[in-house]
Amino acid sequence: MKDSIRHLIQQALDRLTADGVLPAGLSPTIQVENTKDKSHGDFASNIAMMLAKPAGLKPRELAEKLIAALPQDAQVSKVEIAGPGFLNFFQNTAALAERLEAALADSQLAVRKVGAAQRVVIDLSSPNLAKEMHVGHLRSTIIGDAVARVLAFLGDDVIRQNHVGDWGTQFGMLLAYLEEQPAAAESELADLEQFYRAAKKRFDESAEFADRARELVVRLQAGDAECLRLWQRFNDVSLSHCQAVYDRLGVSLSPADVKGESAYNAELPGIVEALRAKGLLTEDDGAQCVFLDEFKNAEGNPLPVIVQKAGGGYLYATTDLAAMRYRSQVLHADRVLYFVDQRQALHFQMAFEVARRAGFVHDGMQLEHMGFGTMNGADGRPFKTRDGGTVKLIDLLDEAEQRAYSLVKEKNPELDESELRQIARAVGISAVKYADLSKHRTSDYRFNFELMLSFEGNTAPYLLYAYTRVASVFRKLGKGIDEIAGHIRLEAEQELALAARLAQFGEVLNNVAAKGEPHQLCSYLYDLAGLFSIFYEHCPILGADEPEQKDSRLRLAALTGKTLKQGLELLGLEPLERM
Ligand code: ARG
Repeated sequence: MKDSIRHLIQQALDRLTADGVLPAGLSPTIQVENTKDKSHGDFASNIAMMLAKPAGLKPRELAEKLIAALPQDAQVSKVEIAGPGFLNFFQNTAALAERLEAALADSQLAVRKVGAAQRVVIDLSSPNLAKEMHVGHLRSTIIGDAVARVLAFLGDDVIRQNHVGDWGTQFGMLLAYLEEQPAAAESELADLEQFYRAAKKRFDESAEFADRARELVVRLQAGDAECLRLWQRFNDVSLSHCQAVYDRLGVSLSPADVKGESAYNAELPGIVEALRAKGLLTEDDGAQCVFLDEFKNAEGNPLPVIVQKAGGGYLYATTDLAAMRYRSQVLHADRVLYFVDQRQALHFQMAFEVARRAGFVHDGMQLEHMGFGTMNGADGRPFKTRDGGTVKLIDLLDEAEQRAYSLVKEKNPELDESELRQIARAVGISAVKYADLSKHRTSDYRFNFELMLSFEGNTAPYLLYAYTRVASVFRKLGKGIDEIAGHIRLEAEQELALAARLAQFGEVLNNVAAKGEPHQLCSYLYDLAGLFSIFYEHCPILGADEPEQKDSRLRLAALTGKTLKQGLELLGLEPLERM
């Protein structure tokens, strides 16, 4: 509600600026507070006092003009001027209750996308297949998945693209190893890390092996059938490891979403040719480059995007240009979101610019790099195992489940083993995912098992538990969440506060979709859970004074339950009915 009021005030300010009442170029922080005394309205703003001086008016005069310029809004029943020039807003509780009723009656919870539905390509996960997935791939996978779910819920047509690194010189070494020691290699493939190390060891100790590896890269690139067979075998194994991680994480990615770098191989010469035809190419030291004046190095010289090496090989950027063209011309995307490490920001800015100049993407196509920060260890340094190795994602998930198991067992010693296992799995995996999703996307964060598994604070266990509390109300009652008749009446302050927040679900989801920021949904659900427990404490549900009040409170609880459940599912978490 505060946000909506801020928005209304902003519109009034814009109008007064256009009319010349306010000077242009003001961008004040609009403050909206809860009032203490509800007879003076529900929310108040001091904006007229803040801007009276630049407007050359008395605060109350400006307040009057602001009220006249405020757009109509069904959520606001009236606005009054108070004291030296406060604007007091009265919430229209009947309209609010009606909105909640509409949400309860709708499987979409009355959430609609602001603006037209789009076709959106989501570039996510995209690990390099030469190695095992490690914790660095967690963020791209789960943030991308959560945003994909939100967009689909809002009605966008979502296409997931797992742009895996399945091509490049490191494959020569791996193929040489597969070829040299087929039997050992087959068993080592079960652990790609080990396989990679074994191949690397041979590469470093034998010049002959290294030569063979280089030769195999050339043959692979030339399309040699035997090389392609070995390469395919390796990729199949590596992709099946990835798929196991996705399934374990409950991420909606399947083999059908894989469109790896190798898929664009045949397009790469054409990309270079097209750039040449547009007059965008410059040769530099034998390499083919596009120089972009707006990107400069430390010496102030334009930076190049290199699309072909002196030896003829193509690069990461060349493949990304081909992928952009495909996403525009074949997939007809309106919007493409790249969930890739923040450290690749410059790569994407430059590649997007080259794609636009070359006409590889249609004019209206939005290209957005949704960068993310690094996941660090509890010591604030890059996440490593005790002996300094990279942490495999699968090991991390094992530990999370194990710790969740001990915690849940301690809390509920009476649960039987299979239920305990199931709850521990959901809590453990959700905790890891939620800890990541709830952080601002672009900041680095510290991975900490104790914090993420705590039942207090903005954590998965807290939210999962909050949902089970709502579910238990209906269990006790012996009725389904959809079986409550009656009407929502908003009377108590705690009911109003919960109701106002419930009504913002759609606004929050639209923000998540626009900015690619799942943490906004996390904060919202955390808030909602807190408001529900305050409501639950102050407004007896099953012990309400009269049947109408009981039904109204049950309906509020039902909508809270549905909103929490839907929200958790959109984050890719698995709500539990009891824990
Ligand atoms: N494989 C790359 C990496 O691990 C990420 C690819 C991201 N997507 C893209 N279209 N470049 O760094």
